[in-house]
Amino acid sequence: MVGARQLGDRALSHQEAIESVSRREFLETAATRSAAAALFAGFLGLLRMPKPNIHYEPDSKVRIGFADEFPAGTSRLISAHNIRVVRDQEGLHVVSLVCTHLGCVVQAAEGGFLCPCHGSKFDEAGTVTKGPAPRALPWLAVSRAEDGALIVDLRKEVPPGTKTVV
Ligand code: FES
Repeated sequence: MVGARQLGDRALSHQEAIESVSRREFLETAATRSAAAALFAGFLGLLRMPKPNIHYEPDSKVRIGFADEFPAGTSRLISAHNIRVVRDQEGLHVVSLVCTHLGCVVQAAEGGFLCPCHGSKFDEAGTVTKGPAPRALPWLAVSRAEDGALIVDLRKEVPPGTKTVV
């Protein structure tokens, strides 16, 4: 009779021992895995360190072709770059078609350009004839590559009226 109770107590303590070991193993495993995860995260951080966190923008200089492709009297839209190339007897110039109000692309219209977003108007030279655009369409710098091709810098403005002799 006593033996049954002792057996029960023994079984209970044995069960507790199993739970205790399991708890200990669980905690050891959890600690090991947490440490491994922390090391792995640190390693990933190290992998990122040598790389500069820089966003490269596309080159602002674009080739538009050779001078003989723009004979006097040319007025050509190059929609891929949102520019208009004009050549007259005095030379060649490039006008940006990006509205100076909020950056919409203007469209050719009677006597110049019209912005479809808020209705600004510009004359052929890009001068504002109706707001809200605060200033004229920018004239862009034109240069030549080593092979003679014409290069337009989409981020470099020149004073309106500046023409490149080609
Ligand atoms: Fe051209 Fe507003 S973006 S008028």
